[in-house]
Amino acid sequence: MHYIKFLHLSVLQQTDTMNYKLVWLLYLYGLTFENANAAINRTFPANFKFGVATASYQIEGAWNEDGKSENIWDHICHENPTFVVNQDNGDIACDSYHKYKEDVALLKDIGVDFYRFSISWSRVIPEGVAGSPVNQLGIDYYKNLVQELIDNGIEPMVTMYHWDLPEALQDLGGWLNPEIIDHYAYYAKTLYEELGDSVKHWMTFNEPKQTCMGGYGDGNMAPGYNFTGLEDYQCTHILLKAHAKAYHTYDEEFRAEQQGSIGIVMDTAWFEPASDSDQDKEAAERGLQFMYGWFANPIVNGNYPQVMIDRIDERSAAQGYAVSRLPKFTDEEIEYIKGTHDFVAVNYYSGTYAQWIEEADINDVSYNSDLNILVFPDDDWEDTEPPWFKIVPWGLGKTVNWIRKTYNNPEIFITENGYPDVGGLQDDKRIYFYKEHMSSLLEAILDDGVNVTRYTAWSLMDNFEWGLGYSKKYGMYSVDFEDPDRPRTPKASAAYYNQVITTRCLVDVCE
Ligand code: NOJ
Repeated sequence: MHYIKFLHLSVLQQTDTMNYKLVWLLYLYGLTFENANAAINRTFPANFKFGVATASYQIEGAWNEDGKSENIWDHICHENPTFVVNQDNGDIACDSYHKYKEDVALLKDIGVDFYRFSISWSRVIPEGVAGSPVNQLGIDYYKNLVQELIDNGIEPMVTMYHWDLPEALQDLGGWLNPEIIDHYAYYAKTLYEELGDSVKHWMTFNEPKQTCMGGYGDGNMAPGYNFTGLEDYQCTHILLKAHAKAYHTYDEEFRAEQQGSIGIVMDTAWFEPASDSDQDKEAAERGLQFMYGWFANPIVNGNYPQVMIDRIDERSAAQGYAVSRLPKFTDEEIEYIKGTHDFVAVNYYSGTYAQWIEEADINDVSYNSDLNILVFPDDDWEDTEPPWFKIVPWGLGKTVNWIRKTYNNPEIFITENGYPDVGGLQDDKRIYFYKEHMSSLLEAILDDGVNVTRYTAWSLMDNFEWGLGYSKKYGMYSVDFEDPDRPRTPKASAAYYNQVITTRCLVDVCE
């Protein structure tokens, strides 16, 4: 598709008539009229959709209202307040439970095509376990939200699990107890039954790596366990089966009637080889396979990435384990999980260099030693407010190209991309961040032919940023967390995003 770029450059100075002829040429080559136009004018294609995302614990509040039970984030914030910066918690958060209509009005002002939000399991099924009562008031909240969105012409896109497990299930072992597969399938089925007539895009899990590595490996996320190299792999093994069961349940019992689509959201950084050496290229590929492929490979290609299997099996044996620390799928399980996606989704925030290094100390049992690469930023890459988070927009284009190549050219959704700061309404750096990332994406779509059809900005408004509490802000709307009414105020980025959505064009990039 590089010829499109060439054509684009060559027509920049030409007349409209000339452009019209080129649209015809590209149309004959196989592009639709709309997409041929987009290729010439450097606009987002006609089928491309824009949205914003949030998550239940980060915005809803109402932590114990209307029958909702405690979840693992309520629990850790209440029992171990220093787990979060400033001892913040999500008890009230943005109070979206009570202010959802106002939030839909904000979405409408931005002009988004869709809203990606998550459902709180403990609000819907307070006891968590399969067969336990469904909390009608909890269901009603989401039904009302979905209806409000639809009434305003905004498509609901639902994440079923964004890290807030009912505490009752954590008490049974959480994601380490295989019985959770049935509990999760019951929850998923409840959602399809209650909301599936209106919701046409489902995501089973958000960033499962954070659930398993954050929750059970390095302990940065609830429930805060530190068993890296062991429990993070066990958690993933169970979670992937839960994902597959939820997918098959939809396929077998709901798809024919509801006609929706379902996938999973995985996060990755872009890993750029630190040099042209084969070893550094290998290190970068290994980084992507350990981060994204850990989940994507079983779901798209079947089984864990070979490099994970080989390395973890080998290191486990050398460490004296009777079986590999990376659990094995049976052949039936591989087949059961493979293909359980209608789209491939990615949350992208940043990138890093990756360098090959000597093998880690064999006594070190950890995910990081299993991965065994050195990651570091370029001094020239721009900082965000947290200095460890560098702005690497071109990494997004490279990431979607890598996904296309590695997973057989799937339909790709960007389900999150966003910029943290410490406040301020004139958020020019956030505008710059969005613009550069969307620009990289546009190049991947128009010049490389990558099939990306959605872009989702994180986030609608400032909210509870997990262990960082309210100290880091990602919103296009500022929220005053000191005011009991939690008023929202638009930042400059809200108007910028509205302009992009309305014109389908990035200022300075399209004609
Ligand atoms: C990914 C997560 O899905 C979201 O919950 C979080 O707030 C953003 N990244 C920013 O860290």
